[in-house]
Amino acid sequence: MCGIVGYVGPSEVSGRPLDVVLEGLRRLEYRGYDSAGVALVGPGSPQVASAKKAGKLANLLAELEANPLPDASAAVGHTRWATHGGPTDRNAHPHLADGGRLAVIHNGIVENFAALKAELLAEGVTFLSDTDTEVAAQLISRAYASSKDLTVAMTEVARMLEGTFTLLAVHAEHPGTVVGARHDSPLVVGLGDGENFLGSDVAAFVAHTREALELGQDQVVTITPSAVEVIGFDGAPAQGKRYSVDWDAAAAEKGGFGSFMDKEIHDQPQAVGDTLLGRTDLDGRLVLDDLKIDEAVLRSVDKIIVVACGTAAYAGHVAKYAIEHWCRIPVEVELAHEFRYRDPVVTEKTLVVAITQSGETMDTLMAVRHAREQGAKVVSIVNTNGSTIPRESDAVLYTHAGPEIAVASTKAFLSQITAAYLLGLYLAQLRGNKFPDEIAVLMDELRDMPSKIQAVIDRGDHVSATALSMRDATSVLFLGRHVGFPVALEGALKLKELAYIHAEGFAAGELKHGPIALIEEGQPVFVVVPSPRGRDSLHSKVVSNIQEIRARGARTLVIAEDGDEAVLPYADEIFWIPQAPTLMQPLLATVPLQIFAMALATAKGLDVDQPRNLAKSVTVE
Ligand code: F6R
Repeated sequence: MCGIVGYVGPSEVSGRPLDVVLEGLRRLEYRGYDSAGVALVGPGSPQVASAKKAGKLANLLAELEANPLPDASAAVGHTRWATHGGPTDRNAHPHLADGGRLAVIHNGIVENFAALKAELLAEGVTFLSDTDTEVAAQLISRAYASSKDLTVAMTEVARMLEGTFTLLAVHAEHPGTVVGARHDSPLVVGLGDGENFLGSDVAAFVAHTREALELGQDQVVTITPSAVEVIGFDGAPAQGKRYSVDWDAAAAEKGGFGSFMDKEIHDQPQAVGDTLLGRTDLDGRLVLDDLKIDEAVLRSVDKIIVVACGTAAYAGHVAKYAIEHWCRIPVEVELAHEFRYRDPVVTEKTLVVAITQSGETMDTLMAVRHAREQGAKVVSIVNTNGSTIPRESDAVLYTHAGPEIAVASTKAFLSQITAAYLLGLYLAQLRGNKFPDEIAVLMDELRDMPSKIQAVIDRGDHVSATALSMRDATSVLFLGRHVGFPVALEGALKLKELAYIHAEGFAAGELKHGPIALIEEGQPVFVVVPSPRGRDSLHSKVVSNIQEIRARGARTLVIAEDGDEAVLPYADEIFWIPQAPTLMQPLLATVPLQIFAMALATAKGLDVDQPRNLAKSVTVE
């Protein structure tokens, strides 16, 4: 939530600070789009030059076109997901203080802002916004007045704040400096040649440099054109971790597609293929190099708890079926925010698996910390390199889906399932639940999936045409059994998020226990049908469920395997997917549901990349 960019470079390159920051904001807009703003400082400027506008970045660009800002050597930019104070011009960042000489931007929530604001009000400070950020700006201004050192002032204030925050500040008296601080919110440094960058994630600067520095918790960073200095909140020198970003700016572009979502749906064969790459040795044994937990500890695990939110949690639901089947270890799947605030039974023999695309979801991070405090080992399945959750886990299994820019998750979901399956098979290998040749067969089946996913995408036109004909639908239901159940949940979530239509996913067997009352003439219901070649009772039970709802007037939209003639008499629409083993089917059956939600939202004229009220990276609890 909230995207943050900072830049400092040589003052003689006209326009570059603003260009870099606007380009960064364009790439970070997925993090929030309630408002956007920039602040610039340059040699000789008596004050910060700034502009900010409620709404999407386009509004800020129009404002800058109408009222250009002067040249500068340093700049910060912000794209907002509103927390304190409505999404208005006046609450947009940056917030100014020190007579307009200081500008501050912020991602996160300052939880003790009310007490701090009362203190400042008592000192006679006036506030121009309703935000917690302006309190931080005024505090930095107050601290700066005595030290005249922006880094010292930032460090002092960082120690006073409670909650989660990344703060960036520029001051007119230091036109060659940007100072940042982070506590439980992301901030990475981009290392340039004669220029340096800051960003909420590497997308902010990947067009300019792929060399990055990962900051640790509770650190303050000061960037100048030639130096990057990191200290802890205690003032002691600290080190960031240097790494190279393994994707380039082109990967974060639409690549000829109409939307990032469309591109990311099309990226899925590669995302799954890349997640599988390099995971076996020459003998075909799984080697998860990034899984650094003692084998003896993994052998002693007696329970797995998956913690995640939203789509990532549905990936966990899918994984539960596979891991329990392969490893005979009980698996619980829990929404991270619920896990954290009850009293879960966690012991040293519990393996907690945190699944997260961003690696920054605050609910998931808190669950990870809680689990480790209880003595559990934590493996995280993460897409974003350099993010917080891998750093706070005992081991990490990266998905290699590449940057996911559309706010609603698609390719991350398929690659999370893939990575969780790899983890399950690795545990089965280690604990001897499966023979090597059985694992080899399952790996081959997984390796077949990218081309099958491609086949589903290639059949997308029928799904899109059906969605177009349903643009006036007000409610759509989704049914599935076994691994088809979380797929149904994911299909419903995609439709809610993208098309703002009431949608619900149910376990097909649960229908008769209540939800069947919702079925009336014409009610559209998607049904995910398991493979007829799997456990046949599963298939025939779902076919019976289709008959039950159809008899009550439902319009049935059936996802079934090629050649599954049994569903034909009961399907109003049928979307064929290639044959695959039951446990692999979610990697295929999800895709028509993603395409359906995207096409329906597009038909309604909605922005599929930036749905209302959402943000990509949910860094508040
Ligand atoms: C849905 C969606 C969200 C995320 C959830 C967790 O399309 O994108 O439900 O899956 O907010 O995010 P990560 O995976 O970044 O922890």
